[in-house]
Amino acid sequence: MRTVSLHREKVFSGPLVLVNRQHPIQTAQDSTLTPVDNGHPEILLDRQAARLLAACIQKVGGGGEIVPVSGWRSQAEQQKIWDDTMAESGLAFTHKYVAYPGCSEHQTGLAIDLGKAAGHIDFIRPAFPYDGTCGAFRRAAAAYGFIERYQKGKESLTGIAREPWHFRYVGAPHAQLMQQNDLCLEEYTDFLREGPRSCPLPDGRLARVFYVPCAGEETEIQLPDGCCQISGDNVGGFVVTAWGCPA
Ligand code: DAL
Ligand code: ZN
Repeated sequence: MRTVSLHREKVFSGPLVLVNRQHPIQTAQDSTLTPVDNGHPEILLDRQAARLLAACIQKVGGGGEIVPVSGWRSQAEQQKIWDDTMAESGLAFTHKYVAYPGCSEHQTGLAIDLGKAAGHIDFIRPAFPYDGTCGAFRRAAAAYGFIERYQKGKESLTGIAREPWHFRYVGAPHAQLMQQNDLCLEEYTDFLREGPRSCPLPDGRLARVFYVPCAGEETEIQLPDGCCQISGDNVGGFVVTAWGCPA
């Protein structure tokens, strides 16, 4: 065991931050952005997310068919998308498909919109079907740490309509835990607050996940031995992930 002390500010960063209309982004961009692939130097993503996205696309042989459409967006870009969509499609459509500026996951570098290669790909609602290579990507995504963020049936929680094209990097084993338990990100922190969780790893060991509420200016967290990651939740605490715990 070792103890780390985390400043309150750390609640607002890390791969598990919840970003929605109720929970705006609180910090300046803190991850390292990198082009999603060589063919799309203008589409940026968090470095780790970009690496795993490429690995997942390669795994399903989707290099030609799966097209990145939109990755990291600045506040100004999100504002422009909001304003343009309002002007072109009106309030109801915009509220369904565009996050309010300052409240978009795209501004973290952890979200990517994907489309199926075609002559015209819609920027706001790219087609990303459930069958073929796109379907294979969808099925493989959790193993690479990605979730389909805006699913049918969760609209009242996420505040956004179903978006089959929008994937959010949360990392493993969180993507698997969310998928296995049918949880959207809004529900996941509550699920972790109920108690520690474990998730089997391919090598037979376990990943353990637990939640620590922010205790004030400094929060002391006891970490198990081995490899650990701490992420803020952008709400009120920290998610600790420990890999390689004995089963
Ligand atoms: N389309 C998603 C909700 C965004 O604008 O972030
Ligand atoms: Zn998106």
